Amino acid sequence: MKNTQLGLPIGTTLDRFIKSKQDDFSFATGELSQLLRDIALAGKIVNREINRAGLIDLGGAYGKQNVQGEDQQKLDVVADIRFIRALKNGGEVCAMVSEERDEIIELDNPGGKYVVAIDPLDGSSNIDVNVSIGTIFSIYRRKSPVGGEVTHEDVLQKGSEQIAAGYLLYGSSTMMIYTTGRGVFGFTYEPSLGEYFLSHQNISIPKQGKIYSVNEGSYNDFESPLKDYISYCKDQRYAGRYIGSLVADFHRNLLKGGIYIYPNTGSYPNGKLRLLYECNALAFIVEQAGGKATDGKGKRIMEVEPTELHQRVPFYVGSVEMVEKVESYLKETV
Ligand code: AHG
Ligand code: MN
Ligand code: MN
Repeated sequence: MKNTQLGLPIGTTLDRFIKSKQDDFSFATGELSQLLRDIALAGKIVNREINRAGLIDLGGAYGKQNVQGEDQQKLDVVADIRFIRALKNGGEVCAMVSEERDEIIELDNPGGKYVVAIDPLDGSSNIDVNVSIGTIFSIYRRKSPVGGEVTHEDVLQKGSEQIAAGYLLYGSSTMMIYTTGRGVFGFTYEPSLGEYFLSHQNISIPKQGKIYSVNEGSYNDFESPLKDYISYCKDQRYAGRYIGSLVADFHRNLLKGGIYIYPNTGSYPNGKLRLLYECNALAFIVEQAGGKATDGKGKRIMEVEPTELHQRVPFYVGSVEMVEKVESYLKETV
């Protein structure tokens, strides 16, 4: 080993980084910092359970369906319990919306100033085949008075109201990526030390990319202008990359440049992805990284007014020039 590598600093831990950025928040006296730490802790626990799933019979289906009518995987349920418990015990969150729960989850933290929308485990179809999966979260300030009853207005907030958002990616390494509206930062988990270390500062997505991510199995359902755009991608010799885990597809495109599309299809006339706990968080992150997120028809995802907890929305997200290009094809149908 060259002596230049001896004694290299091990880098900035997530805790230290959060604390250093805490002063960016006039209103927070550390609660948001604690909330981010609570999410990071739950991520460590879920990461461990994912890594052991095949050994302790945590793989496979749970045997029930969630409110979306989707078969829950055991790890969906485990992750849901872990994140709800971590945020309940952390005390900063008064209510949550989870993909795995029909209704608003009240956490009996009347003093909690925050609300969290979460997809506890994204990419469930990939759990048993060892492909990367993730967790997606959005953080809002509650609208109702602290100490009072939680209301629907607390959880049905536009994406533009988010004060923080992020995702965990359980992949070849486990990462936590988040934004509080002042750039996007990535942390890589070092299991031997039980710490996340800053590995990606001020992530920015290339304005143009050469990757398009869409499930072409639904091609026959696509409206013609979208078919024309996909032909354009092929003419440009872009790479088709779609692994069925939104977080993994999004993360790759965030770092390399690209576009992810989940449009209206026969099975999902309003798109498959959920506004509150998938699209808004990734829209916040991509905009903070200089990218774009819309419904394909020029509507900024973070401006979509939520009316239901599990509302779906068509999702076009990624490099700004690629989103604008596909919209130039789709705008004829507006
Ligand atoms: P979840 O596992 O939380 O239900 O999310 C799955 C989502 C997303 O992760 C992925 O990109 C998409 O569903 C895949 O859907 P298709 O199989 O219809 O392409
Ligand atoms: Mn999901
Ligand atoms: Mn999920």
